[in-house]
Amino acid sequence: MKRCLVDRWMIVALGSLALMACASEDEAPPAPPNGEEPLQLLTYPYHRDEPKASATASIPAESPFFRDGERHVGVAVSADRLEEPGYAQTVAAQFNQVIAENEMKWEAIEPEPGVFDFTRADAIVSFARDNGMQVRGHTLVWHSQLPAWVEALTGADAVREAMTRHIQTVVAHYRDTFPGIVVAWDVVNEALNVMQGQMGGMVVYRDSVFYRELGEGFIAEAFQIARATDPDALLFYNDFGVEGTLGAKSTGTYDMLSALVAAGVPVDGMGFQMHTGPLDQGPNADDFAANVARYEALGLQVEVTEMDVTLCAVGGNVLGFELQRYRFNRILGACFASPACRSISLWGLADPNSWLNDTGCVQGMLVLDTEPAPLAFDAAYQRKPAWWGVYDALNGCTYQ
Ligand code: G3I
Repeated sequence: MKRCLVDRWMIVALGSLALMACASEDEAPPAPPNGEEPLQLLTYPYHRDEPKASATASIPAESPFFRDGERHVGVAVSADRLEEPGYAQTVAAQFNQVIAENEMKWEAIEPEPGVFDFTRADAIVSFARDNGMQVRGHTLVWHSQLPAWVEALTGADAVREAMTRHIQTVVAHYRDTFPGIVVAWDVVNEALNVMQGQMGGMVVYRDSVFYRELGEGFIAEAFQIARATDPDALLFYNDFGVEGTLGAKSTGTYDMLSALVAAGVPVDGMGFQMHTGPLDQGPNADDFAANVARYEALGLQVEVTEMDVTLCAVGGNVLGFELQRYRFNRILGACFASPACRSISLWGLADPNSWLNDTGCVQGMLVLDTEPAPLAFDAAYQRKPAWWGVYDALNGCTYQ
């Protein structure tokens, strides 16, 4: 793999220098001796001649690399935001895959039993089709964002009937209305949980109406129904906290996927959500690569499905932005190094769009004076250093 001459300590050093440069911005530069050019202090942003973000939105030029047709770089979007031209144009120009952040979830698409409303989800899929993009369907069976009527179901027959109708109707709708656009489904999302208090935690099936009434078999059933409905779509299990090889949940998830594969359940891939921070841990990139390798050995595809890198702990200063770039690059480089990884997705376009803003930066009872700023574009839809971390990873250039 191609390696780039960027390492973490260089970023720390450059970041510190830039911080000093910013701190001394108001001071007049020393007069150059003998008419020489004055020393150019490092100022932010300094990477690749990108224009400094301005209050006025201007759309970065199309990134042909993100449209190479072989690998997909996706972004979670909302139907409402796609009505804003700057947002829509940036998504269309910079990505070749979208995910509905909320519009394909059960509560949005089947709010009442058997009553399906595809309006907002279809707006996203139409946008993708019209801009030559593909879609990851998110998500069919999940304990969260379920309508109250599903939560209230009792008895295996009622739950099985509702789950079957939901999967069949949603998958068939996209198979028939937008052929070839929704290429993958997160069939089951976040089915495992860790019970703390045990040594290292103990992995259990997460409490949900599906598990309560159908037992663990609901997972295999969901995949079988999805495969029978659209044999061409890739079918994923998707979860968080399982990105590295370490810990009870990671082990439990790997064991569960191994068992599903061994039993011939039609699962095609493992989605690692990757909601993470800027330090090389939880997992570190090498451990993530090891995890990717063991899923690849099972014959599964892997994807990074929801990546964001919160800056709560380090702040949105130049050092934080550089650490964020490093983190995006190392993780996505590790994924793309595997032939099993052909698609990665970011969980939102621009920093103000992130779900992490709902809680902001809090630590226990403390509200920190920082912002998550976890994505690759800023409020003016300008590329952040993080974008270049993604770009370099796609380009086979992984920082050391
Ligand atoms: O539905 C109401 C709507 O009626 C109301 O107008 C609006 C006002 O704020 O709130 C709407 O509900 C919000 C919903 O998103 C739709 O916008 C909820 O309050 C909000 O909690 C919900 O958050 C979503 C979250 O999933 C729910 O669990 C986030 O936007 C979404 O980014 C997040 O995504 C999940 C993935 O699906 C699975 N992996 C984890 C990831 C992050 O939590």
